[in-house]
Amino acid sequence: MPGLSADDGALGGARPSARKTFFRRLGIPTPPFHTVDSHAELETALKQIGLPAVLKTRRMGYDGKGQAVLNDPADVEAAWERMGTVPLILEGFMQFEREVSVIGVRSTNGTITFYPLTENAHTNGILSSSIIGTTPDPLQTVAETTARRVLTALDYVGVLAIEFFQVGGKLFANEMAPRVHNSGHWTIEGAETSQFANHLRAILGLPLGSTAPRGAAAMLNLIGSVPDVARVLAVPGAALHWYNKAPRPGRKLGHITLCTRDDQTLSDRLEHLRAILSAP
Ligand SMILES: Nc1ncnc2c1ncn2[C@@H]1O[C@H](COP(=O)(O)OP(=O)(O)OP(=O)(O)O)[C@@H](O)[C@H]1O
Ligand SMILES: [Mg+2]
Repeated sequence: MPGLSADDGALGGARPSARKTFFRRLGIPTPPFHTVDSHAELETALKQIGLPAVLKTRRMGYDGKGQAVLNDPADVEAAWERMGTVPLILEGFMQFEREVSVIGVRSTNGTITFYPLTENAHTNGILSSSIIGTTPDPLQTVAETTARRVLTALDYVGVLAIEFFQVGGKLFANEMAPRVHNSGHWTIEGAETSQFANHLRAILGLPLGSTAPRGAAAMLNLIGSVPDVARVLAVPGAALHWYNKAPRPGRKLGHITLCTRDDQTLSDRLEHLRAILSAP
C-alpha cells in the first residue's frame, strides 16, 4: 500500500488517529485532532484544540461507544477517569451543518464507481437514518474526488465508505470504513445494484453494476426494539430487514429501507414510519 507506514496496520478498522493522519497525508481536511496517551498530553491537546471537544478511544469504537463530549473542564476530568487507561484521541467538536457519507467501489482492475452522497442523522452517536434525494448533491464531486484519492492510495478492492462533517459548505473527513456500510443499506432496494452485490462484483473482478438510484430512498435503523411489522410493511415502498438479534437498548436490530419516486413522498412516508417506530 503506497504511502502507508506499519503503524497504519488497522487503518480502516478502529484507529481514528491513524485514519485522520492518513487523510491529512493525502491533503484531505479533517477535524483538528491530537493523540492522547497521558494526562499531560490531554492538557497539551486541550490547549491546542480547546472546548468543546470529543475524546475518543483509538481502538474498538463504534456506534458512539468509547466517546465523550467535553463541554467544560469538569467533563474533562470525569472523562479522563473513565477512559484514561487506553490510547485516546482528542478532536475538536465540529458544529456541522450536515453529516454525509460517500460509498465508493473499486474493482480488481482499478475501475471505480460511487453511489450518491447520503445524508446521515445520528442519535446518541448511533446512525439513525440515511437519506438520498432525487437531485444530485452539490458536494458529490468533492466527496468523489476525496474517496478516489483514498481508494487509489490504498490500491483498494471492494466497497469503502467515508463519513464527513459538512462545515461552512466544506467537507471534513471523520472516518472511513473498509467495507459495506450502514449508511449504504438503502442501496439494497434503492439502487440499480446494491452495495453488497457491487462488493462481490469488485472482489471477483466482474463488471461493476450501476450505482444509479431508483428514485428517492432512505434507511431507518431499528435501535433497541422492533416495531409493529405489519404497520411498517403497510407503508408503500418500505422493506424490513431484521437481523434476528435479541433486543437491547442501543443495539442495532435491523433496518427499514424506503423507496419512492419523489422527495416529498419520501419525506411524508418517513414521517409516518418514524411515528410507527416511536409508538410504544
Ligand atoms: N469531532 C466531532 N464533532 C462533532 N460530532 C462528532 C465528532 N466526532 C463524532 N461525532 C458524532 O458522533 C458520531 C459517531 O462518531 P464516529 O463516527 O467518529 O465514531 P464511531 O462511534 O466509531 O461510529 P461508527 O459507528 O460510525 O463507526 C458521529 O457521526 C457524529 O455525529
Ligand atoms: Mg461513524
